[in-house]
Amino acid sequence: MNVERLRGVALKRTSRGAVWQHPLFKAVAPAVDAADAAVRAARGLSHLPKFSMRSRAMGPTHQFGGLHFVASGRATAAQIRDMTGLRPDEDVLEIGCSVGRIALALAEYLQPGRYTGTDIDRRAIAACLTNPKLESFRFEAQDVFSLVYNPGGRAQGRDYVFPFPDASFDVVFLTSVFTHMLPDDIAQYAREIRRMLRPGGRLLCSVLAEEGRDLAALPVARDGYRLRSAEFPENAVAYPLAEIDRLMAGAGMDRSDGGGAAAWAPPADDHLRSLMEQDLLLYVPRR
Ligand SMILES: C[S@@+](CC[C@H](N)C(=O)[O-])C[C@H]1O[C@@H](n2cnc3c(N)ncnc32)[C@H](O)[C@@H]1O
Repeated sequence: MNVERLRGVALKRTSRGAVWQHPLFKAVAPAVDAADAAVRAARGLSHLPKFSMRSRAMGPTHQFGGLHFVASGRATAAQIRDMTGLRPDEDVLEIGCSVGRIALALAEYLQPGRYTGTDIDRRAIAACLTNPKLESFRFEAQDVFSLVYNPGGRAQGRDYVFPFPDASFDVVFLTSVFTHMLPDDIAQYAREIRRMLRPGGRLLCSVLAEEGRDLAALPVARDGYRLRSAEFPENAVAYPLAEIDRLMAGAGMDRSDGGGAAAWAPPADDHLRSLMEQDLLLYVPRR
């Protein structure tokens, strides 16, 4: 029996390639949510989204009880602050914010600055809008198609125009989002980000750079990128760094970290390093 083949068939028939969409996950989620809520209450973490929602942002591994969600959010927020030089009085846009993993970590820092989060996952945005710790932040759902994350979406990423004025943000960031997007969609997001950035603005994004990576996990080679699954392209997409640079250059942004990909800095927790395994890249508008 070929277990990998069986697993592939099961995934294809029952989900769109994400664990949290699998019927088995959905069947056990209510019980796990209830137990998780009790543990979080004892830890003073009742404000976190429930287990099944947190799993939409980072997968279910290590999510139970909420500590990992908080630690990883803080670590990522710290890295965003370090790499972009984000000041507490600046305006920030996070694209693909999911249930607010990083927003929660920025909530106390970003005063009097403003935070806007968007995502194509309406349920995740609803969780942010009802989170008492995120009351001063703004969230918008994007009606954009993704076979994995939003199969009912009406707009295509390659045509999408964000509902925000020109030059309205100092920092835009996306973590683990371009890793689920195809080149034409990234190119349009890059044009939009360039439009929305103020002079002196910064874009921080994480990517699955092909360089230094075991490409066996991304076996489907396409023109200029690689996929984990041909059936569900948005499940995971990897690019050579030069291709990401080309897409950003086409929108008028250049890499500002000296040419090398900075490794995603995890907190002192080996699980986080192996979970994320992404590369953070900083871009600035061309003068
Ligand atoms: C792996 S999760 C990461 C969530 C969050 N950025 C974090 O680091 O906790 C990927 C997120 O990207 C969102 N996403 C996928 N494609 C997108 C697109 N084209 N535009 C905006 N968000 C997208 C998904 O809905 C999902 O919430």
